[in-house]
Amino acid sequence: MKILITAGPTREYIDPVRFISNPATGTLGYFIAKKAKEEGHSVVIVSGPCDMPELKGVERIQIESALQMKHEVEKMFPEMDVLVMTAAVSDWRPAKKFPEKLKLKKSWTLKLVPNPDILKSVSKKKKKEQIIVGFALESNNVLENAKRKLVDKKLDILVANTVENFGKFPGRGEIFVLYSDGRIKNCTGFSKKVLASFLLKEIEQFQQRKLR
Ligand code: C5P
Repeated sequence: MKILITAGPTREYIDPVRFISNPATGTLGYFIAKKAKEEGHSVVIVSGPCDMPELKGVERIQIESALQMKHEVEKMFPEMDVLVMTAAVSDWRPAKKFPEKLKLKKSWTLKLVPNPDILKSVSKKKKKEQIIVGFALESNNVLENAKRKLVDKKLDILVANTVENFGKFPGRGEIFVLYSDGRIKNCTGFSKKVLASFLLKEIEQFQQRKLR
C-alpha cells in the first residue's frame, strides 16, 4: 500500500521568532511509518518540527504550519491508499504574521483565526477504496466525542485517547480504537510501539476487506 502519515506538532508563527505550538513528539507517527516500511509498504511522512530522526526508505516532507501540512496532504492524497493523521495540528493560527520581531509592549491582544480541518477537507475527496485514520485527544466524554468525530470526518478508524496520555502514553488515560462499522476496541495500556503495530495490522485487514 501507499501510506501517507502526518506526525508531530505544527508551528503557527506570530513573528519571525515566536510561534504557537504544542508538545507533540511525533513518536507514534514515526513508529507507524517505520513498521509500515518494514512490512513492505511505500511510506511518505509529512512531519512537523520534532526530534524524530529520518527513517531509511521513508520519504519525509518537513513542514511547519497547518496550512503547509494541508497543502502537502491534499497534493499527495489522491495517489495514496491510506492516510494516517497522527499530527497534532494547531486549531488556530495568528490572524497575521508580523514581518519584524515584535518589540516589547506592556500588554497586547493576539487575534487567532481557526485553521482548516485537514482531515475533514481531505475526506470529502476520499475514494471508496481509500482508508483514513484519525486521532482524537479528549479531556472528557471520550467515546461520545470520538464517535461524533468518526462520522463527522468520515474516518474508517479513529484512535481516541485522553489528555492524561498526551506525550507520555501509556499514561493514566484510556485509549480506544473506533471503527466505521461500529466496533470499538479498548487499547488502554498499549505502548506507542504496540499501538503502532496494532494499527498497521488493522489497516491491512481493513484494506483486504475493502478489496474483497
Ligand atoms: O477535532 P480534533 O482536532 O480532535 O481532531 C483530531 C484529528 O484531526 C487528528 O487526526 C488531527 O491530525 C486532525 N486535524 C486536522 N486538521 C486540524 C486539526 C486536527 O486534520 N486543523
